[in-house]
Amino acid sequence: MQLYQYPKSNALFDRAAKVIPAGVPGHLGPAAGCFIPVSAYPIFCETAKGAHFWDVDGNRFIDYMCAYGPNILGYNHPEVDAAARAQMEKSNCTTVPSPLMIELAELLVDTVDSADWAMFAKNGGDVTNLAMLTARAATGRKKIIKFKGGYHGILPWMLDAGYPGVLLEDVENTITIPFNSIELFKRVLEEYRGDIAGVISTPYDHQAFYENHLPEPGFWNDVRQLCTANGIVLILDDVRCGFRLDVRGSDHYYGFRADLICFCKALANGYNISALCGDASLRPSISSVFATGSYWLSAVPIAAAIRCIEIMREINAPEVMKKTGEKFAEGLTEAARQHGFEFRVTGEKAMPFLTLGDDDSSVLLQEWVAEMVMRGVFLANHHNHFMNCAMGEEDLVYTFEAAHEAFEAVRKRHPEMYR
Ligand SMILES: Cc1ncc(COP(=O)(O)O)c(C=O)c1O
Repeated sequence: MQLYQYPKSNALFDRAAKVIPAGVPGHLGPAAGCFIPVSAYPIFCETAKGAHFWDVDGNRFIDYMCAYGPNILGYNHPEVDAAARAQMEKSNCTTVPSPLMIELAELLVDTVDSADWAMFAKNGGDVTNLAMLTARAATGRKKIIKFKGGYHGILPWMLDAGYPGVLLEDVENTITIPFNSIELFKRVLEEYRGDIAGVISTPYDHQAFYENHLPEPGFWNDVRQLCTANGIVLILDDVRCGFRLDVRGSDHYYGFRADLICFCKALANGYNISALCGDASLRPSISSVFATGSYWLSAVPIAAAIRCIEIMREINAPEVMKKTGEKFAEGLTEAARQHGFEFRVTGEKAMPFLTLGDDDSSVLLQEWVAEMVMRGVFLANHHNHFMNCAMGEEDLVYTFEAAHEAFEAVRKRHPEMYR
């Protein structure tokens, strides 16, 4: 395979860096996005369709990052886009909302197991924050428990002390403990008895940079029972996993019922909308929370979300992605084995996190991922990947071919491995 080059992307990045902090800010940019080595990656996209995007240099990529989650049915999905376009012809950001908002809430209540109501915002962080405020409003308590490595957005209380601009005071009511440790969870409940408003967690430990961990058997059941017994609001941050594990919610998937559940990424196949859903008992509390945003009720993303959810239900999207994820994991593991590498895939199959054995520094993984990207397979070495429903057999075949070449290239660069 011909290795990709990125002259136009790089020239655009030089231009961007002069007027935009970090060139491309945030996790879609090369700095926070941890594109290592950055020279292996495209920086700007020209077009996208289905499972692929094309960069400004005309290189095609099979995109296993899916815009970090939103691409679930395939980029530019014709039916989702048609629904959005039809609504655009009518209205989008207006002084009073479109009745479509009710339709979307009804659809979520019908789809998501733990949803007795739904309300809308833009980003995942909007709804995880609203969930925290609701938990405090409902209980009159201050403290929030979260799990180590769990990412819930960029507001100060969600981050750790030491992040630039975050004060100790901002995080003094957030208690962070390891995921899956029910004993520690019980100890914290004991120590802060009567002070804990809510627990916020992703459905499993899908933190960046580390192998991902599924919930231990009984973990969610115990957390649910302890929250109920202690009057604590259980918040499921389903921003990343939502609709990839089960359209009924990832709490349903793992056999429990959250009090509040947060959706964003896959909700509208890339249109900008998030949703907070919850139990009927919390309706008065969420209604009391001051919650608004300039674009929160825009009708176009709402129309896209309705069509997206309908299609995800029709095709049982999580099942499609699980099957693709299983083949992805099997094919890469086998390719690695043939070249003498131990390949590890952790987390759920629709959202696999990749590591190599004997590679604590992750240098070999970085090199292999870079070789894959330069052959048109967009992966990341620090983050879970995402399957989508547009990925086909030919994408997997291409991926495995690239994987063979990439493993071979890494091996050649490391003669010490031939001992
Ligand atoms: C689990 C989880 N929660 C919350 C967020 C924040 O969402 P947003 O970036 O849309 O604010 C993210 C984003 O990656 C996420 O993965």
